[in-house]
Amino acid sequence: MRHLITLDDVSSAEIERIYAITEDLKTKFLAGVREPLLPGRMMALLFEKQSLRTRVSFESCMTHLGGGSIMLGDDAGFGKRESIADFTRVLSEMVDVIVVRSKKHNTVAEVAKYSKAAVVNGLTDEAHPCQALADLYTLREHCGDLSGRKMAWVGDGNNVAMSLARGCAKVGMSVSLCSPPGYEIADEFVASVKQRTPNADVTVTNDPKEAVAGADAVYTDVWASMGQEAEQARRRADFSTYQVNAHLMAAAPNDSLFMHCLPAKRGEEVTDEVIDSPQSIVVPQAGNRMHVQKGILVWLLGSQA
Ligand code: CP
Ligand code: NVA
Repeated sequence: MRHLITLDDVSSAEIERIYAITEDLKTKFLAGVREPLLPGRMMALLFEKQSLRTRVSFESCMTHLGGGSIMLGDDAGFGKRESIADFTRVLSEMVDVIVVRSKKHNTVAEVAKYSKAAVVNGLTDEAHPCQALADLYTLREHCGDLSGRKMAWVGDGNNVAMSLARGCAKVGMSVSLCSPPGYEIADEFVASVKQRTPNADVTVTNDPKEAVAGADAVYTDVWASMGQEAEQARRRADFSTYQVNAHLMAAAPNDSLFMHCLPAKRGEEVTDEVIDSPQSIVVPQAGNRMHVQKGILVWLLGSQA
């Protein structure tokens, strides 16, 4: 049984396969055709945190593909009424794929351990692989072949940053990860990316201007992720010189694109003038969550038909 827990679970060739399915289905969708490649397949969305994009994109894509979905929020009692093992064994008798958004990364790993159904990570504190796959697909639509291109991350060394770093390595893009002191991606993580993808070009810096120099895309995310609300004030102070604003974008090439996984805290990590500028691709980036997740689901479930 294949799962998608982190981007370590897919090879570069498999990403290309997912993107080929995505491109085919997106072209058809834009022409008004919704090809039912997964008729009758069921998806459960097991979410411990809030979501707009991940939930709606997965539910829509499963419906377009001819399958169905069921949202399991707090009322399912996940982690409260019974063990994760029992919950998962039962759930996976009834559905073909479980998308998990969990507070702790170990939870999604535990679900995968007991599941007969494919498990997809819909965000944990350590990874957001579907986001990174959609991000890189979006960038490819704008820039063409990504090999040799440069991504700049300016912000927290968080779940999105880690998946993006793995994804960039797999598509041959260099990535400069810029965070304030104390918020950098761990050295061990960078070492593991380099070990898994020997040609990976991953650098870590505390200097935003150095990160965005020569970058094809500048990416940021909220300074305090879901679950870190208590740290909000401290983080606002610690990240204050790491805002992506017009001044920082001026240090990037003129045609550098602005990216954000959303939701954004406008006026904190990014200013209105940047997120609303012609360089910003945040809306098509979010829209591609649906298209790329079709590629992921057809790749995962189609091969198990
Ligand atoms: N980017 C993203 O995953 O958004 P949601 O939290 O709204 O799903
Ligand atoms: N880093 C953010 C991403 C939300 C999509 C969070 O975990 O809250």
